Amino acid sequence: MCGIIGYIGGQDAAPILLKGLKKLEYRGYDSAGIAILGAGGLTVRKSRGAIKNLEEKIEAELAGGVLAASMGIGHTRWATHGEPSDVNSHPHTDVSGTIAVVHNGIIENHVRLKAWLQKHGVVFRSETDTEAVAHLIDLHYNGDLLQAVVEAIKRLEGSYALAVISRDDPDRIIAVRKESPLVIGKGGGENFIASDVPALLEYTRDVYYLLDREIAVLYRDKVEFYNGDGQSIEKNVAHVDWDAGAAEKDGYEHFMIKEINEQPKALTGALRARIQADTTDTGQDAQGAMPVKAINLQEIGFDSSWAKANRVVITACGTAWHAAVIGKYAFERYARIGTDVDIASEYRYRNPISNPQDIFIIISQSGETADTLAAMRMAKKSGARVIAITNVVGSTLAREADLVMYTWAGPEIAVASTKAFTTQLMCLYLIALQFGVLRDVLSGEELAQSIKALEDISGQAERILKDKETIQRFAARHFSKSKVFFMGRLFDYAVSLESALKLKEISYTHSEAFAAGELKHGPIALVDESTLVVAICTQTALFEKMESNIKEVKARDAATLVITYEDVNYFDQSADEVFRIPRLPDGLSPMLSIIPCQLYAYYCAVQRGLDPDKPRNLAKSVTVE
Ligand code: M6R
Repeated sequence: MCGIIGYIGGQDAAPILLKGLKKLEYRGYDSAGIAILGAGGLTVRKSRGAIKNLEEKIEAELAGGVLAASMGIGHTRWATHGEPSDVNSHPHTDVSGTIAVVHNGIIENHVRLKAWLQKHGVVFRSETDTEAVAHLIDLHYNGDLLQAVVEAIKRLEGSYALAVISRDDPDRIIAVRKESPLVIGKGGGENFIASDVPALLEYTRDVYYLLDREIAVLYRDKVEFYNGDGQSIEKNVAHVDWDAGAAEKDGYEHFMIKEINEQPKALTGALRARIQADTTDTGQDAQGAMPVKAINLQEIGFDSSWAKANRVVITACGTAWHAAVIGKYAFERYARIGTDVDIASEYRYRNPISNPQDIFIIISQSGETADTLAAMRMAKKSGARVIAITNVVGSTLAREADLVMYTWAGPEIAVASTKAFTTQLMCLYLIALQFGVLRDVLSGEELAQSIKALEDISGQAERILKDKETIQRFAARHFSKSKVFFMGRLFDYAVSLESALKLKEISYTHSEAFAAGELKHGPIALVDESTLVVAICTQTALFEKMESNIKEVKARDAATLVITYEDVNYFDQSADEVFRIPRLPDGLSPMLSIIPCQLYAYYCAVQRGLDPDKPRNLAKSVTVE
């Protein structure tokens, strides 16, 4: 939700903190602040709004050298407790202004802590849960900041990533996390803290991933690690080999359009190395001409033991949940196995029936979504085995699942998920098809046809993207429509769900998705001349049914756009406009049919003068409930 940065070394800390905060701004942008510790003591500067507000506020001080210091911590906030304001911005300090704390997460017992601290004479200034942490550390401070943090976290309930500095214990920063992400960057004569790796790539590629209740103590020339009880522990450094440029905008106006355009490459990345010549065969097909290909998921440890499952349960939130819905259709179709799909925030509070024979697939771009992690832990408790599909190496989900299938989409910065979605689908299809093979229910012909289609998809996605001006023009005509409905059947219904979410989250247009067959059961009452209906039509056997639905909404004066295959003329008479995508087997169509809908959402947001990368009220990573 919030972004944390920390620096200790030989350079001027404030510019490094500001730069890091900009890289983390996608995590929250209600307010920003820094605390630096130098010859002038502990100095805190913070401001409501975007990081540029903070920059403007301290511009003169920076230029005048007033803020010179070689260590500090910074924060960009997504408000949970207390409105976005200067006083609620982080860092928070104790009463005397000796200790400064930045925090990502929610301290669930903060009301009780506050009452207890007030009894000890503490006067609170902000409405935040974080301020209690600063006072708590101060109360436990007895000349050793590390020990004070150890004592303080014993009393914290909820989730936290914390970075702490103290004027009385200079030359080190203490960092600790529980259920909120935090990485430590190891440099030469300098060390860093960040909420995620891209914020560090400019300085170092050597990182330590902190686990729950682990503490890092950063000095200029070393980092020490402790467990939550303050006992020294060893940790291994990991080397990050991401392309730093991949985390930048590469000349695109927004991260979102960059990431939409990266999908051909990302889809190849998700597929690469998972399709191989079948070594169980002669390597030749029946005619002895073409090498026979197979899906190989050995890399993730998916072997025949997994095929004994009775049921698959897929759990996720938001866009990842839409991928899960498509996964259900894919598992039923290609593997003939009963599949349930659950929204993680619902699953965790139900009394679900699961057993050790179930396989859980948990999907999360970030691998840090609080509800998704809670659902995974419940699944594991029931004895079921868990496969994680995630984009973030070393994320909590990746570490705790039994198997991990990385989407290899590269860093996704825009709040609206795009390339993570299509690569999640690629992973789900690969598992579903391989499941079908292991369960002996998928014909060799359908497997070969599907593998060929998966290999072609990247090039086909590129062709759609070359035609993006068609969607841009369509958005220019329709962006002011007050209602946009997406409808489809089967896989197309699931794509409609994701399309409606994309449009509402970045363009603030009221958009909904309907299973087209449900139209007459209520939603059609909403349709009038102010409505745009986008019909996704890639399920060939259901074209006639879809055509009837399109005629029904047209008869109520809605404008209509159909998305279908390039070789289909079926809808030319019934729809106002038709956008064509390359032909592929109907079951695999979501990986392509979503692309024009992502583009439509993006261009509508731009037409409305909005910043698609930073939609109001949303954050990239939802690490609290
Ligand atoms: O990181 P995750 O995939 O677990 O995130 C889940 C949702 O918060 C996320 O997909 C959200 O719905 C996006 N804003 C959608 O664009």
